[in-house]
Amino acid sequence: MRATGDAGRAAQALLVAIGLAAAVACGNEGADDAPSIDGGAETSADGGPPPLAYPSGFPGLAFPATNPWSAAKAELGRYFFYDKRLSANGTQSCASCHEQARNFTDGRAHPLGSTGESHRRSAMALSNVGYYSVLTWASDLQDSLEKQALLPLFGENPVELGNAGQEVALLARLAAEPRYAPLLKAAYPDAPTVTLPHLTEAIATFERSLLSGNAPYDRFLAGDKNALSPEAKRGADLFFGERAECFHCHGGFAFADSVTFAGKTVRERSFHNTGLYNVDGKGAYPASDVGLAEISGNPADMGRFRAPSLRNVAVTAPFMHDGSLPTLDAAIAHYGRGGTLTASGPNAGDGATSPLKSELVRGFSPTDGEVANLKAFLNALTDEEFLKNSAYGDPWK
Ligand code: HEC
Ligand code: HEC
Repeated sequence: MRATGDAGRAAQALLVAIGLAAAVACGNEGADDAPSIDGGAETSADGGPPPLAYPSGFPGLAFPATNPWSAAKAELGRYFFYDKRLSANGTQSCASCHEQARNFTDGRAHPLGSTGESHRRSAMALSNVGYYSVLTWASDLQDSLEKQALLPLFGENPVELGNAGQEVALLARLAAEPRYAPLLKAAYPDAPTVTLPHLTEAIATFERSLLSGNAPYDRFLAGDKNALSPEAKRGADLFFGERAECFHCHGGFAFADSVTFAGKTVRERSFHNTGLYNVDGKGAYPASDVGLAEISGNPADMGRFRAPSLRNVAVTAPFMHDGSLPTLDAAIAHYGRGGTLTASGPNAGDGATSPLKSELVRGFSPTDGEVANLKAFLNALTDEEFLKNSAYGDPWK
């Protein structure tokens, strides 16, 4: 009979879910948390009217002062997000790498851009993306969805949508599509034209509307005791416990860290080395992607990446920044042994012995039963409604 323990855990989990526990937990992490910078106030804490009903336990989004919420803008942004006119050769939209049914990822370790160039990193999920204080896998500088949209549109390293130097042509292509006229009028009544700010603001507003918080685990927290199987409940105990330590980095309502919301004044940003590689015995990651160190220039930031959300994680394989772990079993095995052993090849080495690894990734040698429980819990984070909700789907179909 585990009811009391489950209830206790559920209460603890609820605290994690609704409180600032992600911030508190990660603040305890010491050296691993060094890049977190306190004191940077939000541009705006103006929540405005909620875009949709916020899922239970979710705080309000922090909308930038320059781009407040409007449903008309989100709808315009949905059309842009799914429009292949976004790519110079008409082959790709944002959705080519961010598919709704896969929690807005693409199922590849390395997505291909519109001209066939392969990306060194895997596409990131976009559910609840409006809550992150810092964007992409390992950049301390990307802090707004409006600015981030410029990367796939104009980036050349690698080419994604391929519009470098062709901004005028891009805007003209979009303006020539008649379905945008009424959408622009609703979103921007004073200046209903396709401009780069309108494009990126509308896309960002659509992205902020991608709220996912109705998984079996959420229903369990809301009082439906049958929403979780006994295995998943035991998995939750492990996930939120001090042996597996998962919640320290994947905690809170978003199951992620580096989260912000309306009214939060401290800008939390955390990056962690989970011992995925150790190619030189001193903790080095493959030179093709050294994580935060590439941007910060600080050798201590080698292999540090943002902890992505684990909501809907069951549909986002392959895992990690380079898609190197193909399944949830592989991801759990990585944490179980406290780092990944790469037996041969150019990246050979044992991440478990990396001196740069987070002290929270110690390895917890799970039994087969515990692996199954943890997996059942991760599977209970899938919000089927979100993955199918036509409000987030392709409006051109
Ligand atoms: C060719 C595939 C591809 C296309 C097309 C693409 N993305 Fe991405 N997206 C990625 C990859 C890869 C990453 C991770 C980049 C990194 O960490 O360097 C990413 C990351 C993101 C992130 C960061 C999410 C987070 O949690 O930090 C956002 C937001 C995003 N993309 C939005 C968009 C939008 C909007 C478009 C269209 C304008 C778009 N993407 C087009 C592949 C793509
Ligand atoms: C020290 C912080 C930390 C702890 C503790 C931690 N993680 Fe992670 N997790 C991360 C980071 C950082 C990444 C991305 C690493 C990368 O791409 O190199 C990640 C990635 C993942 C992914 C892949 C997600 C994706 O979209 O690719 C899964 C699954 C995962 N973690 C599960 C867990 C589980 C289960 C536990 C507990 C056993 C756990 N994590 C503990 C920081 C952490």
